[in-house]
This record gives sequence, structure tokens and C-alpha cells, in this order.
Amino acid sequence: MSSSQPFLSSSPSSLPSPRRKKSRFAYKHLAALSQSQTTCPLRVIAHIDLDAFYAQCEMVRLGIPEDQPLAVQQWQGLIAINYPARKFGLNRHITSTEAQKLCPDLIMQHVATWQEGDDKWAYREDSFKNMASQKVSLDPYRLESRKILATIKEALPPAPIQRVEKASIDEVFLDLSAQIHSILLQRYPELSGPAPYDDPTTPLPRPLTTALDWHTDALVDLDASQTEDDDPDWDDICILLGSEIVRRIRQTIRAKLNYTCSAGVARNKLLAKLGSGHQKPNAQTVVRNRAIAQFLSSFKFTKIRNLGGKLGDEVVALCGTDTVAELLGVPLETLKRGLGDDTGMWVYNAVRGEDYSEVNPRTQIKSMLSAKSFRPAINAFEVGVRWLRIFAADIFSRCVEEGVLENKRRPRTLNLHHRQGAQTRSKSAPIPRGGALSEETLFELARGLLAQVVADGRAWPCANLSLSVGGFEDGVVGNKGIGGFLVRGEEAKAMLASERMNAAVHGDAEAEEEDGEGERERPLKRRKLRPDNPSIANFFGKREESKDESELEPEPEPLDHLPNLSSSKAAPTPAPEPTKPPPRPPQTTSTLPSSAPSPPPRPRRLPLLPLLRNPASSPPPRPPLSHHPHLPNNKTRTHQTRIPHPPPHRHRKRRPTLAPNATASQFR
Ligand code: CTP
Ligand code: CA
Ligand code: CA
Repeated sequence: MSSSQPFLSSSPSSLPSPRRKKSRFAYKHLAALSQSQTTCPLRVIAHIDLDAFYAQCEMVRLGIPEDQPLAVQQWQGLIAINYPARKFGLNRHITSTEAQKLCPDLIMQHVATWQEGDDKWAYREDSFKNMASQKVSLDPYRLESRKILATIKEALPPAPIQRVEKASIDEVFLDLSAQIHSILLQRYPELSGPAPYDDPTTPLPRPLTTALDWHTDALVDLDASQTEDDDPDWDDICILLGSEIVRRIRQTIRAKLNYTCSAGVARNKLLAKLGSGHQKPNAQTVVRNRAIAQFLSSFKFTKIRNLGGKLGDEVVALCGTDTVAELLGVPLETLKRGLGDDTGMWVYNAVRGEDYSEVNPRTQIKSMLSAKSFRPAINAFEVGVRWLRIFAADIFSRCVEEGVLENKRRPRTLNLHHRQGAQTRSKSAPIPRGGALSEETLFELARGLLAQVVADGRAWPCANLSLSVGGFEDGVVGNKGIGGFLVRGEEAKAMLASERMNAAVHGDAEAEEEDGEGERERPLKRRKLRPDNPSIANFFGKREESKDESELEPEPEPLDHLPNLSSSKAAPTPAPEPTKPPPRPPQTTSTLPSSAPSPPPRPRRLPLLPLLRNPASSPPPRPPLSHHPHLPNNKTRTHQTRIPHPPPHRHRKRRPTLAPNATASQFR
């Protein structure tokens, strides 16, 4: 708690003031708060997001002074820019050369990379020249992310009171409701008794506090109907308590790890997430219930979590506007007709600041992905195999971090995705049990899968390859022999996990969760989170696609003059990766990955608001339909491949740890 306790003036309930007003909240709402019920009107959710995360990681790692402009470079592009550098107009869409011109003092630190033959990523002075032979590693940031997550968890009471959801590499949601409930009862003994006459609908006594001390919080202005003279009610007090918890967590992260972050505190995830981005860096924004309408009215609804991607595009096309204020005028029926009942309802609620999605206390990794886009494309099996070595080393080192060597956790399936032109092919195989997992096992399995793709024909030129492991499950700690996994490892389970993984890759909304540990090279286009509401999940494609943008790596600039691992003649540079969402997948339940689903009927896209208000404006154009290596499309084929005998293990030198290896910062 903060040292200042603004509510100590509360009087015991035995001495109620005769003129004391009733609260808008009842005893049943207190009970709902203790259970973190998503519909509880006193609920408090926080969203914490690290400021310029990768840039801060490099600043902390290299001990760079805080006011020094710094950007994180990936090949010729920038993927993170610290706040001092943002003052010079730098952003993620400019090249390193342009950045240097705008800010001559800029430090550009290239991300760590893997290269062939390595058994560990490294920071290298000349990475920016070697896009064709290296692949980026986000491991350094992932490791910092873990430390931050651990610090946040340590600062909170244990589960089940603690509810932390890792939302991306640099952000978390916290459901603080249960913790706040217990603080409330300590600080306001008048709330602790049972409801009078055991009637849970009895209103609570109104808090006696008249003014709340919000410290340094950014307070969002009140709605037009509210004034600061309106006495606080319990929802204000709950949110203030939440804000104190979050301020303390941020202070702890700063003190222990030297990172700054921003936060939003509000009654749900939607508002908390908008809040954390409202004042950056190093600030927290409180969205009181009485300020929600005012807060939201200033936004484009495409800034709302889950409304930034394909669904947002649909709504813009349907309604001819992208502002919250105008969307508020669109009747529910219209949204339902255009988007379907569930999605229409969800959108209607979202622009009113209603969001009942829960904070899912899941922080464990469920899958890992290592990928490379080839510019130019590669043309030979042997070249692909060399990349598979790097992927296997990358994934295995992350598996070691997850505790595979100690049998703490273990992936069940390996998946290979291969893109040739517009066609993506995926193959998967169960990872053999019976013995410790090794990099060599992963590599040999992967090679077998690539051989299958090649045997199917038309494998070249290949524009993108990726390898992933999934279906992680807990092992038997302390039983390091074969036995632990033999007992648990029925073939059926492995195949089931493999199927789920395939389904995840092919857009089945019910499929296994991809947790965002993927490492890939991607366009800069931001992709949005998948909604918690499964009924609108279809708007968000497969889960791997649904990660927060912070997990994604931008696609490198094509650099044709660079050397390529390939010894064969380079294929022409493929078209840039799509920057738009995929065709809308079917709205019904899952389809077989190998089938070719026909697209659902499109919603009517009449520009309503132009008709209602402004005949001159027209809806934005539909995003073009495009293909993506990991997205379902009707050319995608999936196979499951059983490798009957695990290949012999050839042992390579093991890496002992993954401690960051600093190079001097680069002044170029
Ligand atoms: N990132 C990326 N590619 C993107 C988007 C994000 O590589 N297209 C990385 C960035 O390097 C970033 C991290 O993911 O550091 C987190 O992203 P985000 O929170 O969106 O931005 P930050 O850089 O942290 O900046 P902010 O202070 O605005 O949160
Ligand atoms: Ca961030
Ligand atoms: Ca983020």
C-alpha cells in the first residue's frame, strides 16, 4: 500500500450518520468482488505495459543513460524506439539510415541473432548486413520479460487471490478484485458484517470519504453528468485501491530491475488497456466508472482492444465511421444484422466501455515458434535443412529454459510450416518420448518433415519456413529417466495434441492456445489480440495470428545484394508479406484442416452513417484478401506424419546458460 491512507476517516457502522446516503452498491456486489466475478460493478482490472520495451532492455543491459536516444535495429529497420529518440520524430516505420539523419546522436543496437552452427544467439556488430544468413532472437527480451513477470507476481498475494494474465512479451493484465475486497474489509470494518436481514440486495452504507487522494495518477476527466463534488462511492474507492497496488508494483519493477512501465486501472480489460496507453511513459491512468463515457468518446474505436484488426475494418465498412462517438448512434439491431448477433452485441457493448472478459491466469508457455522469411526465396532442400538446424537450436534452447532437461515440462508435437508462393503446407509429428529431449531429435524430426514436403512436390522456391513445438505438458520432476514420460506418453495423446496444434495453425478457434512465444519475422503491420469471447473469435483467424503486436517482429527490408545461404540461383524476391488480415474464416465450428472451406456469406456493408449524417463520406475500401504463411487458406494442406523410429542422437555441445552477451553499443 502507499504510505498515505486517505480513507482512515471512515467511522464504524455502529454510528451511522442519520443523513448518510446509501451506496449504489449492495452486499451482493461485495461478494461478487471477492470472487472476481466478471460482471461485478466494483471489479478492478489493471493493465501494465512496459515503455519502449526492447529499447529499455538494451538500455538496461548496456547501462546507457536514460536520456540517451536509442533504437533497436533489426536489419535495416527499427523495431523499438526509446522515448528520448521519439522526440526526434523516429518511429518503427523508418529505416536506420533515415533515423540516423533525424537524430545523429542515436544509438542503434541490433537485436541478437542466431547464425548457422551456433548453439546460442549472440549480439554481433555486423548483424545488420547479414539478414540472409542470420535470424533474430528475442531471447534477451523474453528473459527480461520473465523477470518482470516474476517481480509482479511476487508483489501480489498468492493465488487464488492473485490473477495475472501475461498478454504479450511486455504486458500483463491483473484482476485485483479479490485483493481489493480483502483490503476493503480491513479498512472499512462497517462492510464486514453480513447483509442486514441476510438480504444481499441491501445497499451498502455510503463511504464517508468525501475526497480521494489520487497521488500522481492521470485521472481521466469526468463524464458531463458528473462533478468532482459528487461524493465517492465504493467503485471509486475500489479503483483507488487498485491504483495504489499498481503504483507499488511499478515502483518495485523500477527499483529491482530498472524498467519503467505504464498502467491503466479500470473496471475491465478493455478500459485498462486503453488506459495504459493513454499517458506514456512511466505513468498510470485511472478510468473511474464515472469517466468512462468521456474517456471513450475521444477515441477511434479501432484503438479498442480486439477492434483494431479485421473486426474493426468490418465495423468501419458497415457503419462508415471509425469514431466511438458516431458508433454510439448506431442501433444494436443494425450491428447485429451486419456482424451477427454475438459480434454485434460485443461491439455495441465495447464502445460503451462494457467488457466482461476475464483475466485468465495463464502464464505458462504452450508453444514455441522459430521462423524465417527468405528474401530472396530459397531453392534447395539442403538450404532449408541448414535453417532447420538454427530453428532446432533456437527452440531447444528455449525448451531448456522451460525445464525440459529436468523433465519439468515437455512439448508433445513438432510442426513444420512451409510456404511456397501462396501455398502453405504444414506437417507435424509427435515428439518421441523415451529419453531426454535433445536438439538433435528436434532437428532430425524437422528434417524428416521437410523431406515430406519436398516429396509432395512443388516445394521451391520457398519464401518462409517455420518450426514450432506445442502441446507442452508437465513432466514428472525428480524422475529424470525414461519412465516419467513413458507412463504419460500414450500415442493417442500425442496425436491429439498434434491435431490440436494443426487446428491452431489452421484457424480452429477452439484449438490449443498459442501463447505468443513465437519468434518470426513479420511485416510491421500491427495485429490485434484475439477476443476472449469465443463467439467473435472467428474475426481473428488462427491463434498464432492473434497475438499482440508486441510479440511480432517486423519483416526485414528486402536486400537483394546481400549474400544468401543458398548456393543455388536466387529466386526473384517474392511479393511482400500481406499486411492485411486474411479472408474471414467460417463463423461455424471447426473445419477439417485439409478441407477447403467456402467463405461465409459476407455481412451487408451499407455505409450507415453516411446515410444518416454525411452523404459525402464513403466507407473505406475493403482490405484486400491476402495470404499468409500461417493463415488458413484454401490451398493449405495438412499432414500428420509419424516418424516410426526416432533418429539416433548426435550430441552437440550444450549451452550452459542463456546469459546475455553484451557487445559494445554501436554508434553508426
Ligand atoms: N514490437 C515489434 N514489432 C512490432 C510491434 C512491437 O518488434 N510490430 C516489439 C517492440 O520492439 C517493442 C515490444 O514489441 O519494444 C513491445 O511493443 P509495444 O508495447 O507495442 O511498444 P513499445 O516499444 O513497448 O512502446 P510503448 O512504450 O509505446 O509501449
Ligand atoms: Ca510496451
Ligand atoms: Ca505492448
